[in-house]
This record gives sequence, structure tokens and C-alpha cells, in this order.
Amino acid sequence: MVDGTRARSGLEGVVVADTKLSDVDGERGRLVIAGHDVEELARTAGFERVCGLLWGIGPDEAKERVGTGRTRAFEVLPRLGDALGKPAGMDALRASLAHLVDGGEGAGDAAALTGAAAVFAAAWLRAREDRPPIPPDPSHGHAEDFLRMGLGVSPRPEHAGALDAYLATVSDHGMNASTFAARVVASTGSDMVSSVVAAVGALKGPLHGGAPGPVLDMLDSVGMPSRAAAWVDAELDAGRRIMGMGHRVYRVRDPRAAVFEKQIEALAAASAGRAGERLALARAVEHAAEEALARRHPDRPLKANVEFFTAVLLEAVGLPREAFSPTFAVGRVAGWCAHWIEQRATGRLIRPASRYVGPPAA
Ligand code: COA
Repeated sequence: MVDGTRARSGLEGVVVADTKLSDVDGERGRLVIAGHDVEELARTAGFERVCGLLWGIGPDEAKERVGTGRTRAFEVLPRLGDALGKPAGMDALRASLAHLVDGGEGAGDAAALTGAAAVFAAAWLRAREDRPPIPPDPSHGHAEDFLRMGLGVSPRPEHAGALDAYLATVSDHGMNASTFAARVVASTGSDMVSSVVAAVGALKGPLHGGAPGPVLDMLDSVGMPSRAAAWVDAELDAGRRIMGMGHRVYRVRDPRAAVFEKQIEALAAASAGRAGERLALARAVEHAAEEALARRHPDRPLKANVEFFTAVLLEAVGLPREAFSPTFAVGRVAGWCAHWIEQRATGRLIRPASRYVGPPAA
């Protein structure tokens, strides 16, 4: 705290790297990943193709390498000690990825880590139910294989497709906190595994990737659309934040929210499941939260961020809420690795400054 108010980071808005990987336009609500609008990537690309774009290799090579990464990671499972026994998925993911050793191969390591994140997260999901891990099948797409390994059944094609679009959409997002963490570690000359482990630690926090589970708790607690406004007001009166709302960069609705909303609409249309009901509730809560936040913070637009509809989408494809943050990491790891490659190729040591506000030396 400084002068009785919350200290604003001296890094806010400061450019710490040149990047060809992604661009976030917070005023217009536009996200470009490797030269493509996120809406287009989600619709047409698929996760492995986006990996290839980020790592500078072709789509077929990316698919093959990520598949091999999954196979190799499965072989490592018996040597992970108690990493997968940790109750929280992000702790398990951090501990298990930390067992890997860097191979110094750039895109090769990126694929190995991307394969490993999915295998470890899926094995953790199985371990928490005392079930043995399911081996990967590299002939499947990454999203489909992740669901199969994690849930123990072959997913419906529309679920695999929706998760594929999700993973592609979250693969990279400018200099967000976890990517910055990865990039700082890379800038010291350290290895890709260390970068990714640092990034997992940053992603875990509720102000970054830890929000979608609590978003679903919120929807459960609200229960029905007619209760949304009163519930939101009570939360804000109690001084709590509405999860899935607000963003450091976006001043309009996060474009990824619309991408996920479309996916959920398609899932709801394809089945008589809960997705449609959940979507209606989520929209009511979003509407109520946007209105209440606008009343309380008229100068600061606070709209839905990526996590809001992530929660509904990941629930609709069958994942339990405890797996939401690890699933975010399964997609974002592709971007962390790309930033490691780029930072090592073009960057220099990132060493920001701090402002001393302590007592003067005696
Ligand atoms: N609910 C209620 N109030 C919120 C809010 C939210 N979701 N997000 C921001 N605010 C308020 C803050 O309390 C602050 O009010 P104050 O100035 O009276 O203290 C004001 O809006 C500005 O917030 P600030 O903390 O400066 O914004 P930020 O850029 O640091 O925060 C987030 C960005 C994402 C951390 C923030 O919006 C948040 O905590 N959201 C909820 C968690 C979440 O969804 N995380 C996932 C992010 S992708």
C-alpha cells in the first residue's frame, strides 16, 4: 500500500517485449494470434494448427510432435513421485511438469511440454478418483485425447470440437501475467521447463486463471436468472469481486467470451443437456453484473472476461470445475513455450525497476 491506496504496478502498460505471437486490442476488443483473428482460429484452425503457427512449424508436424509428446509424457508418469496425488489440479500440474528435464530443442520441447500438460492434467483427474491413468492415442486430436484420458470415455465429437476451439482460443494472449512470468524466466537464459513451471504458478491465482471454477460456484449460488441482480448486489455490498468480470486490458467485452458463447450455443442446440439452461443463467448474471459494476464504477468499464464463459463451456464438455484451471494451462502452455522460443531468439534480460517507499537509511 502506498499513501493509503492500492499501489498500481509500475509495469502497467509498459512494453517489455516485441512479439509476433499475439496482439490484444483492449479498446476495440480484438485478439490476433499469429496473424489471425481469434474468431477465425476458433472456427477453423484447431489447437495443433495454432501450436504450429506459434512455434513456426507446419500443422502436420505440430500434430505429430504433440502426439509424441503425450506418449513420452505417459512413460514418465511412474516417475512423478506424489506429484499427481496433490488435491489441487494446479499444484499437481506444477509439481509434475517440474519433473521434466529440458532437451534444448525449441519446438521439440514445446511439443513435449504441451503433450505433457494434457497427460499430467488428465492423469490427475483420474488419480483423484483412484483410477489408473489412460494411455494417450496420438492418432486422436489433442483435445479429444485429453477428454478421453481425463474422463475415461470417448468424448462426443461436438464436445471434442468445442474443447479444441477452446484450447486454440486460449493458446496465447499478449503479455498476460503467466506469459510474463515465462518470459522473465526465459530472459535469464533458463530452460523451457522452468519457464512453464513459473507460468503455471502465475496462472493458478484467482485474478488470472483461477477464476472459472469460482464462476461456476457463483452460477450455482445464484441458481436462477431472476435472482441474478440481487445476488450480484449483495456480493458487491459485501466487498467481494464478481468472478469472470473485469480485465486489466479490455475496456469492452473480452472477444473470447463471444467465441465461447457461440460454442456453448452449438452444444446446447446439439443436445437437450444442461448447456442451454446454464447459458441462460450465465447471460442473466453477466447482464446483472455489468449493470451493477457500471453503477458502482462509472469510469471503469467492467465486462465479462474469458473466464466467465469458460466455466460454462468446460462444464458442458463434461469436465469437473476442479479441472478448469489445469485445462486452461493445457491450452496456454503452447503460448508460454512460443514466448520462450521468441524471447531466447530475440530478447534480452528483463529486469524492471521498483520504487523504494521504505524508511530512509538511518
Ligand atoms: N468485481 C467487482 N469489482 C471489480 C471487479 C470485479 N470483477 N473487477 C474490478 N473491480 C473494481 C475494483 O474493486 C476496483 O475498484 P476500486 O478502484 O474502488 O478499488 C476497480 O474495479 C478497478 O479494479 P482494478 O483492481 O484496478 O482492476 P485490475 O485491472 O487490477 O483488475 C482483474 C483486473 C481481472 C484482476 C479484476 O477485474 C478482477 O479481479 N476480476 C475478477 C477475477 C477474474 O475474473 N479474473 C480472471 C481474469 S481474466
